[in-house]
Amino acid sequence: MKFGVALVCMVLWVTNAQAQSEGYAEDGRDIYVVCAPCHGPEGQGGGGGDYPRLAGLPMEYLVSQLKAFKSRERINIPMFPFTVERELGEQEVLDVSAYITEMKLESRLPDMPDTVDGYTRLLASKRVLQIPRAPGDADKGATVYQDGCARCHGDKGEGRPHDPPLGGQHIKYLQKQFADILTDTRMHPRPEKIIKPLSQSDIENLLAYFSILDD
Ligand code: HEC
Ligand code: HEC
Repeated sequence: MKFGVALVCMVLWVTNAQAQSEGYAEDGRDIYVVCAPCHGPEGQGGGGGDYPRLAGLPMEYLVSQLKAFKSRERINIPMFPFTVERELGEQEVLDVSAYITEMKLESRLPDMPDTVDGYTRLLASKRVLQIPRAPGDADKGATVYQDGCARCHGDKGEGRPHDPPLGGQHIKYLQKQFADILTDTRMHPRPEKIIKPLSQSDIENLLAYFSILDD
């Protein structure tokens, strides 16, 4: 009897775990092969920030952005052919997102004893994404951020399920997102109240702040 109850609980637990993640990271790994030339094999981004870092972005956010690219609510010309239904169906969106959300990057090379060989060091270095310090006053940026952004993007820019992290992301990419939000080509909640009142120097200071968040 007890065994029966335990078995039912286990089956419920397993189906629940699958329903929660909805996507299968192992299948997502195969799909990611077409994303890697632009977003990097480790999801670190590329092109000096033309291609955003994807590694570790929240599952919900990834799914919502891929859907927005498909419906062209968010315009992304280089990526559009990869998101059409034939290339990336509903299940593939979930699978590739499940894979990407589990990718991990470091902000610096881990300490390794001298005995570690060159190849292991090389592999570790590929998983490091260091964001160069951007010009601007990071302290002033932090103040603007805490006043108007932290409640959604997190106290340290770490993000929340539907709000992207702003730390650990390429600055050139974030700069473009500001420009797109200001010209209504990228969606943002209540842009008139939240983003459009920012001055150019506020934005520069915010970018300086974002660039040091992962230090
Ligand atoms: C030809 C290059 C290219 C390929 C291939 C590509 N992307 Fe992208 N992707 C981009 C560009 C460029 C952007 C940034 C668009 C912008 O500036 O708003 C982007 C943005 C994204 C974003 C939004 C990130 C964020 O922080 O909001 C996601 C998610 C994404 N890509 C996922 C994928 C996935 C998954 C694949 C593979 C199925 C893929 N991309 C393939 C070029 C590419
Ligand atoms: C009410 C919650 C909320 C507040 C407050 C908020 N954001 Fe956002 N932000 C979001 C959401 C949600 C998105 C993703 C929008 C989408 O594409 O669906 C976003 C996206 C962004 C992006 C694009 C990031 C990327 O990776 O593509 C930037 C840049 C940004 N916000 C900056 C800010 C700044 C700066 C502030 C404060 C002045 C701020 N946000 C305040 C919710 C918020």
